[in-house]
Amino acid sequence: MSELTPSNKVQQIEASPTLVLVSKAKELIAQGKDVISLSVGEPDWPTLEVAKQAGIEAINQDFTNYTPARGIAPLRQAIVDQTNNDFKTNYDINNVAVATGGKFVIYSLLYSILNPGDEVLMPTPFWVSYPAIVGICEAKTVAVKTSKNSQFKLTPELLEKHLTDKSRVLILNSPSNPSGFLYTQDELNDLAKVIKKYPRLLVLSDDIYNRLTFDYDVAPHLLNCDTDISKQIFIVNGVSKSYAMTGWRIGWAIGDKNIIGAMGAFQSQTTSSTVSISQKAAVAAILKGGDELIKIKKLLKNRRDFVLPLLNAIDGVSVSKPDGAFYMWADVSGCYGKSFNDSKINGSDDFARLLLENYSVVVVPGNPFGEDDYIRISYAVKEERMKEAIDRIHSFISSMS
Ligand SMILES: Cc1ncc(COP(=O)(O)O)c(C=O)c1O
Repeated sequence: MSELTPSNKVQQIEASPTLVLVSKAKELIAQGKDVISLSVGEPDWPTLEVAKQAGIEAINQDFTNYTPARGIAPLRQAIVDQTNNDFKTNYDINNVAVATGGKFVIYSLLYSILNPGDEVLMPTPFWVSYPAIVGICEAKTVAVKTSKNSQFKLTPELLEKHLTDKSRVLILNSPSNPSGFLYTQDELNDLAKVIKKYPRLLVLSDDIYNRLTFDYDVAPHLLNCDTDISKQIFIVNGVSKSYAMTGWRIGWAIGDKNIIGAMGAFQSQTTSSTVSISQKAAVAAILKGGDELIKIKKLLKNRRDFVLPLLNAIDGVSVSKPDGAFYMWADVSGCYGKSFNDSKINGSDDFARLLLENYSVVVVPGNPFGEDDYIRISYAVKEERMKEAIDRIHSFISSMS
């Protein structure tokens, strides 16, 4: 071991596979290849105009100092008002901690809850960063294998089966990255009955896509259940996806004041606060972004309805209709066991790699999400490029033997 060997802890962290693919795609583009990336986890439309203007105003008014570690009061108030309106709750600003994007919020929240050895349950397929963050917190990921029959959703039976006296957090993400499926209110009601029986179990409800749903204003929620489990629930949300603000780095957690207060202490010693300018922009997005959001949802729904039949027309690909977000979860296991040129396709990693190398299309393998039969396709991509990418996938699969 040399003087410059990184710590054991940091060596255990793998770079996010989605970010690795995005940078690989950028490399190929720099070499002049016509790469189409269907791996993007962010909107392809710009930040809402109202948010941009508020950011510019914040700079012009020299609103460029540190802010409170948990965020400025007007932002926390806007978040609380929106949440109370969505779920008929009574949160106040002391229930809210704002931080540097949804991902850091999840870290700050889990760090504030978990002790080493605690178990964190997550249904498969799960967002790839959850297990990585759980690992950083020295806790243990319990991947709960779901099935296609339940649209990859957790059922009360599965949940009960995996609960132990070490279970501390259940992570639910609806609509889901990567599947785009969401839990109905009835399904959540059934889960809530089990959760109520285990008061030590806290729920991290990752709502980052909950306004990007096609049949609801806001996705159904555990806070709306007949069984009151509000004390056990922690919401995670942010402006990244709904308001096309991934680079502004604003996310938040809402829940019990003790834990939220602990997040404030943690954040004060790690990031100090998130960006002052972004906080002003986020206030504008939340208060004034509603009309734009309706337009964006329409655009996304049209894209979903355009892409779905094209994908399902390919022999060897099967996709169910997603309810929200901008992902399709495509079963490509029909291609496994086949060969492309002289390479055998044994799983989603092979599928994604050969597709990128030979047809310059980037998709995300399902493997790191916990389901190797699938790939994730993002349709936050303009229609004509989407069509071209699907044609290439079709050619790729047709050339297998
Ligand atoms: C399921 C899920 N949760 C949280 C996040 C974090 O979002 P942010 O960009 O605000 O960190 C993402 C981003 O990809 C996500 O897909």
